[in-house]
Amino acid sequence: METPDHHETKTSTPGSSTFMFHNSPAMQELLLKPISKDNPIVNDAKIRRLYLQATSQQWYAPQKLNFDLPVDPHEETRQAWARISEVFYTLEKMGLNVIANMMPKAAGKLKSDEVVNYLAVQCHDEARHVFVIESYLKKLGAPPVYNHKYHVLGQVASLGFYRVENWLFSTLFSENFASTFLRKAKASPRIDPFGAEMCKYLMIDESRHLHFLHIVLPDVMDRLSVLGKAYVKASQYFIMKFSEATTKALAADSDYVGINRRDLLEEVFENVEKAYEGFGVTRQFLRFPKITEKGLSTATVSYPSVS
Ligand SMILES: [Fe+2]
Ligand SMILES: [Fe+2]
Repeated sequence: METPDHHETKTSTPGSSTFMFHNSPAMQELLLKPISKDNPIVNDAKIRRLYLQATSQQWYAPQKLNFDLPVDPHEETRQAWARISEVFYTLEKMGLNVIANMMPKAAGKLKSDEVVNYLAVQCHDEARHVFVIESYLKKLGAPPVYNHKYHVLGQVASLGFYRVENWLFSTLFSENFASTFLRKAKASPRIDPFGAEMCKYLMIDESRHLHFLHIVLPDVMDRLSVLGKAYVKASQYFIMKFSEATTKALAADSDYVGINRRDLLEEVFENVEKAYEGFGVTRQFLRFPKITEKGLSTATVSYPSVS
């Protein structure tokens, strides 16, 4: 996803993307040249291209997804997906509120006008995710409910000192978590046709969100003071520990649909660790919580028999 995917197109009709980007240096100058007045601390040229890519990949949910596709005929399977999706819905809704709040703060801190445009599109992506999961929950027969148990995550991720940096690093964890979960959910032997379609399209957006972080975070890390780094480390540890603890409540449901909680967390931690290494800190920079089974209860979930 280095550049907009238009270069695949062979036609060069005026007004088409090929025309804009490849046949005219004047168009390239006009459309690809960043505009920030201040000295941005991030790679504005890359962010501008990512903005264009993001806009070209926007999708209209009722057109892209067939809302007529069936969900699972078995009550217990629908209920397991409903409990899992309620948490996913809460996290997406929280992510939407947080990004809407953090957009201007991030653009100011990074001194980048390009970040404003790009994040506005990412914010729209998150709104679409909320809308789609909301509809999925309704199809499963569960009301879409924001679970306040997870609300603290959004607060830790975007309040306090270094809040822009903290939010960006927190997003690295949450976007990795979402991407890994969606891939596993799509591959689940119990996923229904609608759920599989939903995961497929959400994954495309989430991987672009990760791409943005891989552009900006090395520069953010470079400029972070020793105190800032210590703050980010502590807050990231809390977020991961909280996730480790709260996912226990979903362990029985996720096992039932074929997603092992430990495998999921290990994969996310590994991805995050690798990413930090790419930002120029050692693999030991971040402290990861132990993944424990203690307190893991399978008795809290009872699957009703099919009536
Ligand atoms: Fe999302
Ligand atoms: Fe996202």
